[in-house]
Amino acid sequence: MAFAQQLIAWQRRHGRHGLPWQGTRDPYRIWLSEVMLQQTQVATVIPYYQRFVRRFPDVGALARASEDDVLALWSGLGYYARGRNLHRAARLIAEQGFPRTALDIAELPGVGRSTAAAIAVFAYGERAAILDGNAKRVLARAFGVERDEKLWALAERLLPKRGIERYTQALMDLGATLCSRLAPSCERCPVVRACVARRDERVAELPAPRKRRALPQKDVQWLVLRRNGAVLLERRPSSGIWGGLWCFPELTGRAPAGAKRLSPIEHGFTHFRLRIRPLLLKSGSEPYLNRARTPISWMTFAQAEAAALPAPVRTLLGRLGEGVR
Ligand code: ADE
Repeated sequence: MAFAQQLIAWQRRHGRHGLPWQGTRDPYRIWLSEVMLQQTQVATVIPYYQRFVRRFPDVGALARASEDDVLALWSGLGYYARGRNLHRAARLIAEQGFPRTALDIAELPGVGRSTAAAIAVFAYGERAAILDGNAKRVLARAFGVERDEKLWALAERLLPKRGIERYTQALMDLGATLCSRLAPSCERCPVVRACVARRDERVAELPAPRKRRALPQKDVQWLVLRRNGAVLLERRPSSGIWGGLWCFPELTGRAPAGAKRLSPIEHGFTHFRLRIRPLLLKSGSEPYLNRARTPISWMTFAQAEAAALPAPVRTLLGRLGEGVR
């Protein structure tokens, strides 16, 4: 049996079924789910996806929302450029309609070649090839191929004439379950007998990890100012890390006398590691605020928790809140 047919038969019995974005052909919902699923696991995405479709049941509702509201609902999913691009794309789609081919879908902000293909497959049944991290691992191992260009050509050659939706889901599912990076379950794999990596004992080497340099570390100080059960947050400029999200104000320079040091928080980004040193200040220390262009707001804990916050701000609020609530 051909590769695609093996995968399709396997998906029917052993793949993932009943995910909330399956069983619809609505391009809006499929696009939303595929963007959320970039770099993020299914289990994490499910509650976010459900909140989004409840709050924004169609692309018009998402387009009419403010960026702040969209980022607030995105808060905790990470990679916030995705949330900002989602909102921009919603405004384009609301004006121009949803693009109808993988090629045109790939023009939307935040949608690359593989994501566009997945959307075109699930929404329209287009025969388009995906090559996300999971699909890449499956194909690299099964065929012993490493270079991206070759993998794309292979991915396109393998597409079945019928059943493109289930085949695409199968690649995703096999990569996410049996064909995992560190602990693959080859004994249960539907294509183990033809697998080149298995035959050559190269499963652990394929696909070769991208070369990683040691990530640089950056240090920042955060000012924690409190007043009557509220905390002072600042909205970051729309470019740069956490653009548009609410954060504790940053302090440049020396900590003021009387500031209390709280335990640092470490946060990993793709290109660097951030060590955050929070400083608790007495109220009346507002002069330390670097009063620049950014909006600031005193928020109660409840207001802050509903706002667009990056994970470390949530972590710190959680620590501060113990004992308050
Ligand atoms: N990862 C990317 N897209 C996915 C999908 N539609 N279902 C499950 N995992 C995925």
